[in-house]
Amino acid sequence: MPITDFHGKTAFITGGASGIGLGIAKVLAARGARIVIADLRPDHIAAALAQFSGAGQSNSVAAVEIDVTQRARYAEVAEQMQREYGGIDILINNAGVGCEGPILAAGYADWDFGLGVNVGGVVNGIQSFLPQMIAHGRGGHIVNTASLAACIVMPEAYVIYAAGKAAVLNLSENMRVTLADKGIGMSVLCPGFVKSNIHEAAQNRPAHLREGSGWAASEQTLSERQHGDNWLEPEVVGDMVADAILANELYVITHGEFTDRMNARHAAMMARTPHADVQY
Ligand SMILES: NC(=O)c1ccc[n+]([C@@H]2O[C@H](COP(=O)([O-])OP(=O)(O)OC[C@H]3O[C@@H](n4cnc5c(N)ncnc54)[C@H](O)[C@@H]3O)[C@@H](O)[C@H]2O)c1
Repeated sequence: MPITDFHGKTAFITGGASGIGLGIAKVLAARGARIVIADLRPDHIAAALAQFSGAGQSNSVAAVEIDVTQRARYAEVAEQMQREYGGIDILINNAGVGCEGPILAAGYADWDFGLGVNVGGVVNGIQSFLPQMIAHGRGGHIVNTASLAACIVMPEAYVIYAAGKAAVLNLSENMRVTLADKGIGMSVLCPGFVKSNIHEAAQNRPAHLREGSGWAASEQTLSERQHGDNWLEPEVVGDMVADAILANELYVITHGEFTDRMNARHAAMMARTPHADVQY
């Protein structure tokens, strides 16, 4: 059954302790869901739990520390969710890292970091939780966080980031029909600029992927980036995601600023597409 009401539902939100994930957590908690924040960073988890406690919502929010690239840990956590909640109802595969720098300077470490978290984390979430979501028979919903970077041609500094997000967009589109047969909805979130801590990428990069990186200087520059005044508040995105779950909408697109670039990409592809009746 698709989700029609958040009361009594358990939502597992990766990267749920900061930025967009925390915005989604706050909105789903306010709308009646039980929240499990799943995050790499103990400092983010502590700060997020303090906010929920300050809002008198401690009872409806729990947290687990997890690196979404670690499959054995993911299996453990999925088992814990089965034990404690009879399985989860809503999976938000949102954990991601900023990953940008001159592509010709990138090392394998930069590809492995960017694709490992931004694609591998989503794959691991699906592989770990989908069996229990199908088995408990209550239906549910999965949201994967991609980016508008997946929908347009991006500057070269974003080759790895955009490639990962394009994979997330594509797998979400293509899994939707199969999941619908199991009563599970699927949405893909494509945000533009949102206020968050995504500039802290260096702090989320494991030591073994610092070695061999060509992007130490780029990560330093990213760490100094300030939010733009017009960037969205994470709770606004949280509301869009909650509404999309209830309506089982595939695309959650937060910004209209990139419409021209989305159209330009599509038009360029169509311009090179032969008519269906062309014979070879
Ligand atoms: N903020 C934006 O403008 C924007 C735009 C488009 C897409 N996104 C995407 O939104 C998602 C959330 O990012 P955000 O902007 O809120 O950033 P954020 O850094 O504020 O939040 C991401 C959270 O994910 C956690 N995390 C990082 N690596 C992890 C790992 N390996 N395992 C578990 N948790 C991990 C971090 O500790 C952090 O709490 C990401 O997928 C990002 O790519 C963000």
